[in-house]
Amino acid sequence: MTTLHTARLRLEPCCQDHLQGLHRLNSDPLVMRYITGKPDTLEDTQSMIDRVQARWADWGYSWWSFFDRESGELIGAGCIQHLDRDASQPHEIGWRLQRSQWGKGLASEAAERMTSFAFDTLEAPQLTAICAPDNLASSRVMERLGMAYRGLERWYERDWATYAISAGQWRERAARLASYSPPTK
Ligand SMILES: CC(C)(COP(=O)(O)OP(=O)(O)OC[C@H]1O[C@@H](n2cnc3c(N)ncnc32)[C@H](O)[C@@H]1OP(=O)(O)O)[C@@H](O)C(=O)NCCC(=O)NCCS
Repeated sequence: MTTLHTARLRLEPCCQDHLQGLHRLNSDPLVMRYITGKPDTLEDTQSMIDRVQARWADWGYSWWSFFDRESGELIGAGCIQHLDRDASQPHEIGWRLQRSQWGKGLASEAAERMTSFAFDTLEAPQLTAICAPDNLASSRVMERLGMAYRGLERWYERDWATYAISAGQWRERAARLASYSPPTK
């Protein structure tokens, strides 16, 4: 199981020790508003941990809990998994944060690291992300990652705004960012 780091976050594979922190996250109706539309119960979060642990064992990737490196607090979660939870479907990236942590660029920071894991470590050919059409914060994270809108598509038995980026597009973006130097006065 792979732990990832960013400047402000440590991404640890979700495990039993994270139950209470993940439950705080998943039981907030505002966090779940655009995901399932209702808060998860403790049992729902326990099932998530059980499912995710099996995926880590089978696939070597799944959901991480995000920890603030300074406070040690569990402040969110994110994943690399497969659309429809079906390994024959394209890789999917996802994220959610405690509401107290919104608007600080943390989702984009974690997403950047999970995306490079998907392309550089897993060698995924393509990465997809889905959100409710009116979830502007989430679609903005997708755009910041360089993903392009592909339209409304049916996954998990619902229609979602669907975004995607290929490995080639990700590498081009990385090269562009590496060669960018800010204008001087
Ligand atoms: C979606 C979510 C993870 C975004 O997290 P975040 O850390 O606030 O996102 P970032 O700070 O990286 O911001 C990304 C962009 O979205 C914008 N944004 C944030 N909230 C917004 C809102 N409510 N409406 C419009 N844009 C918003 C930010 O300004 C930023 O745009 P910029 O690149 O132009 O500056 C967070 O809002 C969340 O946890 N929501 C609930 C769970 C959820 O819906 N998850 C996604 C399921 S698909």
